[in-house]
Amino acid sequence: MTKSPVIVALDFADSRSALALVDRLDPALCRLKVGKELFTRAGPPVVEALVARGYEVFLDLKFHDIPNTVAAACDAAADLGVWMMNLHASGGRRMMEAARERLESRSHRPLLIAVTILTSLGEEDLAEVGFQGTPAQNVRRLAALAERSGLDGVVCSPLEAAQLRAERGAGFLLVTPGVRPASAALDDQKRVMTPADALAAGASHLVIGRPITAAEDPVAALRAILEELEAPKNC
Ligand code: C5P
Repeated sequence: MTKSPVIVALDFADSRSALALVDRLDPALCRLKVGKELFTRAGPPVVEALVARGYEVFLDLKFHDIPNTVAAACDAAADLGVWMMNLHASGGRRMMEAARERLESRSHRPLLIAVTILTSLGEEDLAEVGFQGTPAQNVRRLAALAERSGLDGVVCSPLEAAQLRAERGAGFLLVTPGVRPASAALDDQKRVMTPADALAAGASHLVIGRPITAAEDPVAALRAILEELEAPKNC
C-alpha cells in the first residue's frame, strides 16, 4: 500500500494506451483512477490488470440509481478488487446507506466516497434542476449528508477543501482534482491549486491526470510532484 497522496487519472480511450502509461509508473508512488471513458471502452479487465500490477484503483463511475441497484454495482466493483469507488450524494441517504451496508458485509471493505455537486454546475444550472442556493452551500450540505450516511469522504475542488476539512473533521477523505504543479499547463482546468497548497488546505488525496500522463517522462513528472510535496516551504 502506497503512502503517496497522488492518484493518477487514466483518461485513455483504450486499455493498451492506459497500460503502456501505467507500465512506466510505480505502484509505490501513486494510485490510479479509472473513469467512465476507459471503463466503458475497456471494461472490468483493465481494472483487474491494474490491480494485478499491484496498483490501488479508484473506480470513478459516480453511481446514481435506486438503492438496491447502486448497492449491487458497488458490490460488483468490490469484486474487481478496487481500493475506492464513488457515487452521487444527490442519490440520497438511503442509496448511500445501502451501498455502504453492502460493502460492509464483505471481508474487506473498499473505500466509498461521494460526489457532491459537479464543478461544471453553476448556481443557475442548480436552480434549473431544483437545487436552491449556491454550489458551495450545496457542496457543504451534501458532504454532511454523505458523512451521516456512513461514507468515507467526498470528491471536491481544492478550493472547497479548507471549509470541508473544518466542518467534517480529520478522518473524512477529501479527494481533489483540479490540481496543477506551478510549472504545468492548466489544460481545461480553470480554478486550480498546486499539490502542496491543496494538501495544506486539507485535501487527503490529489487526482492528477495530464501533468503526469502527457509528460514525456511520466515517472519523472510524478517524482517531481512528490518531491515538491516533501520540500519545506519558504513561506
Ligand atoms: O488531466 P487532469 O488533471 O485535468 O484530470 C483530472 C481528472 O479529474 C479527470 O479524470 C477529470 O475527469 C476529473 N475531475 C475533474 N474535475 C472534477 C471532477 C473530476 O477534473 N470536478
